[in-house]
Amino acid sequence: MEAGPSVMGQLMRRVRVDLGPRSYDIVVGAGAISLTGYELQRLGAARNAAILSNHAVMRRLGGALVRSLEDCGLTVQTVTVPPGEKSKNLRQVARIYDALSSAGFSHDDTLIALGGGVVGDLAGFVAGTYMRGVRLVQVPTTLLAQIDSGIGGKSAVNHPRAKNLIGVYHQPALVVADPDALRSLPPAEMRFGLAEAVKYGMAMDRELFEMLEGFTPKTLEEIVYRCAAMKARVVEEDEFERGPREVLNYGHTVGHAIEAAFPGRFTHGAAVAVGMRVEARAAVRLGLLAEVDAARQVALLERLGLPVEVPAGPPGPLLDAMRLDKKRRGGRIRCTLPEGIGRARLGVEVPDSLMQEVVVECQFVAYAAPSR
Ligand SMILES: NC(=O)c1ccc[n+]([C@@H]2O[C@H](COP(=O)([O-])OP(=O)(O)OC[C@H]3O[C@@H](n4cnc5c(N)ncnc54)[C@H](O)[C@@H]3O)[C@@H](O)[C@H]2O)c1
Ligand SMILES: [Zn+2]
Repeated sequence: MEAGPSVMGQLMRRVRVDLGPRSYDIVVGAGAISLTGYELQRLGAARNAAILSNHAVMRRLGGALVRSLEDCGLTVQTVTVPPGEKSKNLRQVARIYDALSSAGFSHDDTLIALGGGVVGDLAGFVAGTYMRGVRLVQVPTTLLAQIDSGIGGKSAVNHPRAKNLIGVYHQPALVVADPDALRSLPPAEMRFGLAEAVKYGMAMDRELFEMLEGFTPKTLEEIVYRCAAMKARVVEEDEFERGPREVLNYGHTVGHAIEAAFPGRFTHGAAVAVGMRVEARAAVRLGLLAEVDAARQVALLERLGLPVEVPAGPPGPLLDAMRLDKKRRGGRIRCTLPEGIGRARLGVEVPDSLMQEVVVECQFVAYAAPSR
C-alpha cells in the first residue's frame, strides 16, 4: 500500500496494476472521485475529457467529477446512454462514436466511464476502438464494477445472438473506486456485488471471507480495497485470460448456465450466488472441500440476502447450458472449485452425472448448521 493524496485529510490507497507499458493505478478511498482531475494531470492528460454515463448516475455523481476535471484545466463533454443492459450494444457504440467525433475528440483526449459495468463495458469498447485506441479512465459506481468489471481491461458489448460477443482488451490508464459513490446504490445491486466479493473470499482470501461474515457498511471500503487488489494480482498474472484468471470463474460455470437456462429470472450476481453453492457441493462430493466450509458459505450467502436455490424442475436444461458453455473444453464440464475457504483449484473436471446430482441437491435449501 502506498499513501496517496488525500481528500479533507482522508488518505487514499493505491493498488498498482503492473502490466509493463500498460500499468496503471486503482485509487481507492472515500471522496476519490474528487481527485480524478488531479490524477489525470499526473498522467499528463490535461486536455479534453468525455464522460460516458447515464442520466441518473450523472445527476448524482457527475457534479463532483466535472468540478474535479475542470479545476485541473480539462474541457469536459458528457455523453449519456439509457440505463441497463439493453444499452450494451453496437447501436449505442455508434451513437457514442458520433458524439465524440462531432466534438473533435482525438488521440490525446480521455474517455471516462462513470457508472456500473454496463457503462464501463461500453466505454472500454469505444476507447479500445475509436482511433484505434484512446485513453480510458474507469470511475466505477456499482460495487460489482469497483471490484470486478472496472479493473482488468476486458470489455464487450452484446450481440442479439449472445451476451458479450463483441469485445476488446483495452486497459484503463486509471481506475477511481470511491466507496462513497455506493451510498445511493439500490440494496439489490449491493447484494449482487457482494456475491462477487464472496467469490474472491472463497476462492482466494479467507480474511475477506471472514470480513464478509461481519459485513457492515463500515467495512465496505476495506472490502472494495481487498477485492480490487486481488483482481489486480490476477490480471497481472494473466492479462489475456490464458489460464490463471480462471480463478475468477468460481461459481460462474454453473452461474452462467443458470442465467442462460432461466432467462430474465436471475441477475448475474444472483446466478453466481447459486452457482457457488452448487459448485461448492461438487467440491464436497469430490473430496476437495469440507462439509462445514460449504455450510459456512451457504450461511454467508443467506446472511447477505443472496439466493442459494436452483429453481425446481428437471435439471436437463441447466446441464445442457453447461455443456454449451465455452469453458467446457474437450467435451467436459470444468469448474474452479474451492479447496477450503480462501483457496481454489482451477479447471477441475466435474462428471456430468455428479453435476446433475448436486444441481438437484441444491433445489432446496439443505439445513446448514451455524458454523460458529
Ligand atoms: N468487463 C468485465 O470484465 C465485466 C465483468 C463482470 C461484469 N461485466 C458486465 O457488467 C455489467 C453489469 O454491471 P453492473 O452490475 O454494474 O450493472 P449496471 O451497470 O447496469 O448498473 C446497475 C444499475 O445501477 C445503477 N447505478 C450505477 N451506479 C449507481 C449509483 N452509484 N447509485 C445508484 N444507482 C447506480 C445503474 O444506472 C443501473 O441501473 C454486465 O453487462 C456485465 O456483462 C463486465
Ligand atoms: Zn461475475
